[in-house]
Amino acid sequence: MKPAVKVTITGAAGHIGYALVFRVASGAMFGQKQPVILRLLEIPQSMSSLSGVGMELEDCAFPLLHDIVLTDDPAIGFRDTDYAILIGAKPRSKGMERKDLITENAKIFSAQGKSINRYASEYVRVLVVGNPANTNALIASANAPDLERNQFTAMTRLDHNRALGQLANKTNSLVADINRMTIWGNHSMTQYPHIDNCTVNGFSVFDLVSRDWAIDHFIPRIQRRGAEIINARGLSSAASAADAVVDHVHDWALGTRDGDWISMAVPSDGGYGIEEGVVFSYPVTCKDGEYEIVKGLELDELSISRLKASEKELREERAIIEDLLPKG
Ligand code: NAD
Ligand code: LMR
Repeated sequence: MKPAVKVTITGAAGHIGYALVFRVASGAMFGQKQPVILRLLEIPQSMSSLSGVGMELEDCAFPLLHDIVLTDDPAIGFRDTDYAILIGAKPRSKGMERKDLITENAKIFSAQGKSINRYASEYVRVLVVGNPANTNALIASANAPDLERNQFTAMTRLDHNRALGQLANKTNSLVADINRMTIWGNHSMTQYPHIDNCTVNGFSVFDLVSRDWAIDHFIPRIQRRGAEIINARGLSSAASAADAVVDHVHDWALGTRDGDWISMAVPSDGGYGIEEGVVFSYPVTCKDGEYEIVKGLELDELSISRLKASEKELREERAIIEDLLPKG
C-alpha cells in the first residue's frame, strides 16, 4: 500500500469542515488506493467541538484513514503536511460582501503562511477557502518565502461547479456533457463566469443558448449565488463548498479530464494581461500534480473589460492588507 498522504484542514469543526473531513477520509479526494492522515487544526475555543468530529471519524472506521490528529497548535497541524486546506475563517452574513471580511480574516492567513513555511513539506500544496479567498492566498504565499508561489491556490471551483449546474439545467443536458467552463478573476461579485469556449455534447454552447441569456441571466446568477444561498439558508454554503474542495484537490493531484479544463485561482504569470502575482482565477489543466494556465484563448472587448474589473478589485484588496505582505 502507498504511504499515507498528510492533509491538514483548518477550521475542521466548522460547517464546511464538517462536510469535508468524512469525504477526504472515505477516499473521495485521492482515490480508493490512497491512505490519508488527517490533521485537523482549530482554535482553542472550538477544540471540544473538534473532539466530537474526531470521535465520529473513528466511528466511521474508514479503511483509508490511517491516523487523525486534532490540534490547536499550528506546529503540530502543519508538520510535514502534503496538503494544507485553509478553511478556518469567519464567513459573511446577509448583506455583506466577501471583502468586508478582509480585516478580520487576513491576519489568520499571514500567521498560517508563516507556519506552513516553517513546518510543512517543501512540496506542500495549499488551497485557501476562507474569504476573501484570493487575497488570503496572496497573504499566505507572501508569508512563506521558502515556497514557490504556485504552491498556493484559492478556490473558485465552487463558482465553476455552480456554472456547470446552471448551464446543464438551461440546456437540458448532463454536467458531464459540458466541457471548458471558465471562471475568471476574483471569488467575488466581479468574477467573470464565461461560457464562450464551452461545448455541450461536442456542440458549441451558442447552438443551445443565446448571448443575451448568458449576459442577463447566467453571469449575474453565478456572481450572486453565494448571497442567494445565504439569503435562503441564513448561513453560507457548506456542503457544496466542501464538494468543491474535494474536486479542486482531486484534480490538482490526479489530473483533469482530456479535452477539458477547470477553474482555479492561482498566482498570475502575467497571462491575459493580468498583473503578475495577483491571485486570479484562470482556466487550468492539471497533470502529475502540477497545474498549467490554458494559453491562447481569444477574448472579446467585453470579456477583457470584465477581467480588468476583477483585477482592479484584487489590487484594491491587496492595498488594504499591504502591511501583511513582507517587503522584498
Ligand atoms: P464556520 O464559522 O462554520 O467555521 C469556521 C471554523 O474556522 C470555526 O470552527 C472556527 O473555530 C475555525 N477557525 C477560525 N479561525 C481559525 C484559525 N485561525 N485556525 C483554525 N481554525 C479557525 O465557517 P464556514 O461556513 O466553514 O466557512 C469558512 C470560511 O470559508 C468562511 O470565510 C467562508 O466565507 C468561506 N467560504 C469560501 C468559499 C469559497 O468558495 N472560496 C465557499 C464557502 C465558504
Ligand atoms: C460562497 O460562494 O458560497 C462562499 O464564498 C460564501 C459566501 O460568502 O458567499
